[in-house]
Amino acid sequence: MKAVVFDRFGEPRDVLQLRDVPTPPAPGPGEVRVRMTLTPINPSDLMTVRGVYGRLPTLPATPGFEGVGVIDAVGSGWLAKLRGIRPGRRVAVLNGHGGNWAEFVNLSARAVVPVADDLPDEQVAAFFVNPATAIVMTKRVLQVARGSWLIQTGAGSALGRMVIRLGKHFGFRTINIVRRKELAAELTQIGADAVLSSAEDNIPARVAEITAGAMVPCALDCIGGPGVVDVIQSLAPQGRLLVYGTLSGEKIPLDPRSLMSGQKAIEGFWLSEWVKQQGVFRMLSLFRQITSLMRAGVLTTPVAATFSLDQLPQAIERVEQSARGGKILLKIDVT
Ligand SMILES: NC(=O)c1ccc[n+]([C@@H]2O[C@H](COP(=O)([O-])OP(=O)(O)OC[C@H]3O[C@@H](n4cnc5c(N)ncnc54)[C@H](OP(=O)(O)O)[C@@H]3O)[C@@H](O)[C@H]2O)c1
Repeated sequence: MKAVVFDRFGEPRDVLQLRDVPTPPAPGPGEVRVRMTLTPINPSDLMTVRGVYGRLPTLPATPGFEGVGVIDAVGSGWLAKLRGIRPGRRVAVLNGHGGNWAEFVNLSARAVVPVADDLPDEQVAAFFVNPATAIVMTKRVLQVARGSWLIQTGAGSALGRMVIRLGKHFGFRTINIVRRKELAAELTQIGADAVLSSAEDNIPARVAEITAGAMVPCALDCIGGPGVVDVIQSLAPQGRLLVYGTLSGEKIPLDPRSLMSGQKAIEGFWLSEWVKQQGVFRMLSLFRQITSLMRAGVLTTPVAATFSLDQLPQAIERVEQSARGGKILLKIDVT
């Protein structure tokens, strides 16, 4: 079968190769084999290839933490039967170990989610990583209250847009920081209450104006670097900031006094750690919630372009561009 492989960590354009590799064997007990159809290129995939992600694979490795595919074979065990997982069934593939950028992948039956026929492949390809992170951070960890404010950086990202739509859906208000002010109209249209520019606006002063001096109790950051200091200054007393990404690759230059006065807190969030603390039934309930919010247009992913595996270099070049206008997908199934 064809698979994308890297033998060493480095820049994706230098180290990723499309290769012929052995097809995985018949699945063992509790496992399934999936024929992959479509997979997104997410920041976590590229951080893994660069060797800077929180957990790294043994090399050689194949990237890909999520995607959509069709069940090809099912091993023995009750879980797959109980969940209606059988050959031919379309599933979202949540592969915490990576390896989805390949024609076939073997994984635990727990890691696939049968999906309703009305959800398009392009959305099911990005069923879990961003939708689950957006809903879990806002509704389960921060528990942003109806009518309350949340401020976020990287608001133009696929995940940032989900947070905006979740705000509209659940009734919390969002202040959204972007590096390109031209995104303001688009984000306002999907429900952003305010859009600020990290380059042009004095963030704490603008937040004070928008909230009539109350500042914000909850914040999300996926960028890192000096801009996070502005977000901390925008927090109300007892405010909480969740850091969940490092897109700038920069450290946060933090004066401890900025947390002490007001007793503010910074916490980290990583979906794969959160998932480990959940039982099967809580996960099934999360899958149901994501399905209904995806169907309602809340947890949807904008897609900029789809490339075939043969076009991997072009796909990587496109994904590294600023203002790319949505996710880049890899079409694995070329039949
Ligand atoms: N912790 C977790 O469990 C978890 C789970 C899921 C996702 N994440 C993180 O969530 C973040 C967003 O993921 P995504 O898939 O939604 O991303 P995405 O759709 O690929 O979008 C990336 C966005 O970040 C912006 N950006 C990139 N570098 C930037 C920088 N240096 N300064 C300011 N903006 C920058 C881009 O802005 P332009 O439009 O201007 O180019 C783009 O809007 C990533 O950091 C990802 O790792 C974390």
